[in-house]
Parts: sequence; C-alpha cells; structure tokens
Amino acid sequence: MNQPQKTTFEFKRIGASLGAEVGGIDLAQPLDDAAIEELRVAHAEHEVLIFRDQDITTEQQKAFGRRFGKLTVHPFAPSDEEAPELIVFDNDADNPPWGTDIWHSDETFRAEPPMGTMLRALIVPEVGGDTMFTSMSAAFEGLSERMQSFVSGLEALHDFKPFRQLFSDDAEGRRSLRDFEERYPPSTHPVVRLHPVSGKKVLFVNPQFTVAIKGMGESESRSLLDQLFRQAVVPEYQIRHQWRPHTLVFWDNRAVQHYAIHDFYPQRRKMERITMKGDRPTGVAAALGGASVKSQKSNRGAGDKAQYSAHKPIDVKESETA
Ligand SMILES: [Fe+2]
Repeated sequence: MNQPQKTTFEFKRIGASLGAEVGGIDLAQPLDDAAIEELRVAHAEHEVLIFRDQDITTEQQKAFGRRFGKLTVHPFAPSDEEAPELIVFDNDADNPPWGTDIWHSDETFRAEPPMGTMLRALIVPEVGGDTMFTSMSAAFEGLSERMQSFVSGLEALHDFKPFRQLFSDDAEGRRSLRDFEERYPPSTHPVVRLHPVSGKKVLFVNPQFTVAIKGMGESESRSLLDQLFRQAVVPEYQIRHQWRPHTLVFWDNRAVQHYAIHDFYPQRRKMERITMKGDRPTGVAAALGGASVKSQKSNRGAGDKAQYSAHKPIDVKESETA
C-alpha cells in the first residue's frame, strides 16, 4: 500500500491577485489530513489552485473533492443518473458550449453555494477554450473606501434565471418550472461576504445570478449592480488559464468569479466538473472605520491629491515650447 505523501507542496504564484500552480503533488496517490489542510489553506489564500499533469480517473477526482466537502448535485446541468454529482462538458460541432461565457460564481442561486469547484480537462482544443478567473477579494479592495463602506451591509437577491429557458413553453414545462421555483426560491446573500477561511472581504454579486439589491428601487439597484459587475472585468484582478489535458483546477467559489471563453467552436473540448458543498455566506458590518486599502488598481477618490504620485500638472510656459 502507498504511504501518504509528505506535505512539501510548492505553490508558484501565477497572478498578482490570485492563482497558484501546485507542484510536488500526485493526485493519484493518497493524501493525509495534513496535506489536505495545507491545500485547504492554500486554496483560500490563492483562490485558484492549478494542478498540472494529473492523469487521474473520474473516481480519483471525486475522492479528492470529497476531502474538502460533500459533493453536490447541480439542479439544472445534465448529469449521469449513476453519478449525479459529476457534470461532463463535452462540446463539439454538434453540442456547442452554452451558458458559461458570462462572469459568475457557481450556483449562487442556492442558499449555500458550493465552496469550490474542481474542473479537469480531458480533451482540449488546439487553441482557445481558456477560462478566465477574477479575484473578487481584490475587486472589493479596489473599490474606494466610500464605496466599500456603502456596499458593506447590503444584501442581494440571486436567482436561477439563466436556466428558466431550459423549460419548455407548455403545460408540462410550466409545471416543472413552478416545481423548481418552489425548491429553489431566490436566495438572499450579503453583497460583501466574509471569507470563512481567509477572513478576506469578497464582493459577492455576479451578472449570471444576481438580480437585485434588496431595499433599493429598480433603477438604483440596476445602476449599482452594473457598477459592481464591472469590477469583475478589471484585468488587474484576473488571470487567464490555458488548459492542457490532465490539468485540474480547484477554484474557491466563495472568492472568485470565472468566465469560460467560448471561442473554440466547433472544436472539441471535454471537461469533468464536481462541486463541494459550501456554507451560507456571512456578511460584514456596514461601517469599515477607515480600514486600509491595498489596491492593485488606482481608484482613489477625487481630492486625494497625495495619492497621485508623480502625476501632477506642469506649469510649462508657452514661450518655452515654441
Ligand atoms: Fe461555472
């Protein structure tokens, strides 16, 4: 029998705001509790962990995932009856990718969205099919203190809206939709959630599932959500991940959003996904009390003159430039 591996993993950071490649690990071998704890902490710290060259089976992927939590079943994604917790994305000319080329965290319409997702590449296109990730903790830090204070304490509604189109427009389809609406009513989550492991504050709204800010008028809610959604597309908070066969990515669904780039059609891309059960998001208090902001992105308020570094108006006389 194989001995559990020692915990000597290497974490090579790949992005300024998030992401690390994990070296010195073989997911085909058993991992002891100390190793899992090291990965659990690194997962929260780096937000996206990338494991290259892991030629493992579906069962080994599921066994690895179970070490971080119970596997959950997606209510709407097609899944195998024998293995409902596994989602197989097998896209080609006859089965174009659908519904993942939008920024989102997985399944935030649930009261307890998954803590993490593990996606493993089996077949990848020659070019294209990358996945973008963005750190929503960095996105929160990048807001001005005024905006951080404003959005902390707010709550938002999350709904399974993109999946409504999967129901047929007939009596049977409408009955089925009503049944799903009863089982999955809109969930209320804090706009800024406190990460249960890292303690970081995370901007927790996404354009796929977040439909409204509670207690605001339609126009106010739409404007604020649009503003907050734009934080996900800021390049400073992102990485772009290129897949190879046998790459497994384990992302922190509490802290990042992702976007699957649909640029490879009609080439084939086959992936296997599992998700691990998360907890109910916890919010943060409204008043931040002058917390320091370590933004990677300049987003200073008007009037913060000391923050503009070397940029200042130069008093150049016209006669000197003539
Ligand atoms: Fe997703």
